[in-house]
Formats: sequence, structure tokens, C-alpha cells
Amino acid sequence: MKVSDAILSRRSMRVFKPDPVPEEKIRRIIEVSKRAASNVNLQPWRLYVTMGEARKRLSAAVLASLEAGESPGPEYSVYKRPIPEPYRSRQVAVGKALYGMLNIPKGDAEGMSRQHKRNYVFFDAPVGLIMTVDRAHGHGQWLDCGAFLANLMLMAREEGLHTCPQAAFANHHPTIRRELKIPDNEIVICGLAIGHADENDVPNNLITERAPLEDFVAWHRA
Ligand SMILES: Cc1cc2nc3c(=O)[nH]c(=O)nc-3n(C[C@H](O)[C@H](O)[C@H](O)COP(=O)(O)O)c2cc1C
Repeated sequence: MKVSDAILSRRSMRVFKPDPVPEEKIRRIIEVSKRAASNVNLQPWRLYVTMGEARKRLSAAVLASLEAGESPGPEYSVYKRPIPEPYRSRQVAVGKALYGMLNIPKGDAEGMSRQHKRNYVFFDAPVGLIMTVDRAHGHGQWLDCGAFLANLMLMAREEGLHTCPQAAFANHHPTIRRELKIPDNEIVICGLAIGHADENDVPNNLITERAPLEDFVAWHRA
């Protein structure tokens, strides 16, 4: 698979098939992805791989804590509010498109909550990763983790798999920490669902927009 094909065929999938994913594939994805560049080669990322009963146990624990009203929120600034323009409009557009496809009208709190909860079962993907970083690190190392996350998503494409990155998991870091025995010095950044997905399923067929280059590239030629 060409790199461009991996990039262009990656999108966030929110419906996965139950088809199992061999552990070997996940290992290969991680092995290759670890070649991501990181400043002074710190390789600051840490991963917790859940599958089988462990994946189900994690999902059940997070859903139970959500039901119990224990949602402390993320330990890091997932976004700074208020989100300024033009970014806010992009958030609104993707929300409208996604919830529109799911037939969840604006103001349907129950529908929104139902979809939100789907995050915590990794949208039924058989493999769920949790990425963390040592809280001693700075912004630079979070950048490295982003590069690693991108590699994981692209390598999944090479293995015929799809993904969904999920900051939603950061909301439930105490439960995840307890379930996966994550030490206190690590911050839960996000989850990553990995599995087989039908690209034609709703809402997997959502193609999100991207701004034209003129909006974000400045050329200096002379
Ligand atoms: C760090 C990160 C966290 C995300 N968290 C979530 C999430 O919790 N739930 C979700 O459904 N999508 C999540 N997404 C997916 C974004 O909504 C998606 O990437 C964006 O709308 C662009 O669509 P695309 O991935 O299909 O190209 C996340 C994406 C990133 C990069």
C-alpha cells in the first residue's frame, strides 16, 4: 500500500465488525509505528493493548463509572474553550454531519449520550489501545505521541484494518488507570479502536472536510 493510499483511506470508523484481529497484526502495527521520530529519540509514548475479555472488562468498568456519575474529565486540555473561529465552525460541521447521519437531532440529549457511550466499547472493535505519556514530559513529547498515533492509524490501513482515535477515554482516567494498572506518573491521552470496518456502513461513510491550502499554508519564495 502506498503511503498516500493509507492516508487517504484512513478515516474514523464508528462501527466495527466483530471479526477478530490476530495479535500478530497488532504487534506488527506497533513494531513499525515505533519508528516514529521523537525529539532526541525519547520515544515518550506508552501503550496499553486490550483485547478479548480484557477489552470487555475495561469497557464495562468505564460504562459503570459513567453510569455512577464518575466522569472527572480529562487530565489535560483536550480543547481550550471557547474554541475560536475558524475551528469552532469545523467542530460544528463535523458534529452536524455525524449526528445527522445517525439521525440524532440537535437537542436530543439521550441520542447524544447513546452515541457518546459507544466510544467506551471502542465502537465494538475487538482491539482497544490506550495511549499514555509520562506527566513529567512537556508539549514536545506530546507532539511525538501524535506522530506515533498517526503511524498506528496508517499501519492499521496496511494491515487491512481501520481505526478511531478516541480522546473520550481521557474523561475516565481513574477507572482506566485502575483497570490497566497504569502508574500515577502517566496521563491517559486517548484510546484507539482497531478492527475491521465496513466503509459503507453509516456513519463510517462520513467523509469529513479539509480546509484548502490557502487557509493554512504561507509560502515564502523570495
Ligand atoms: C486525538 C483525537 C481524538 C479524537 N477523539 C474522538 C472521540 O473521542 N470520539 C470520536 O468519535 N472521534 C474522535 N476523534 C475523531 C475525529 O472526530 C476525526 O478525526 C475528525 O472528525 C476527522 O475525521 P476523520 O478522522 O474521519 O478524517 C478524535 C480524533 C483525534 C485525532
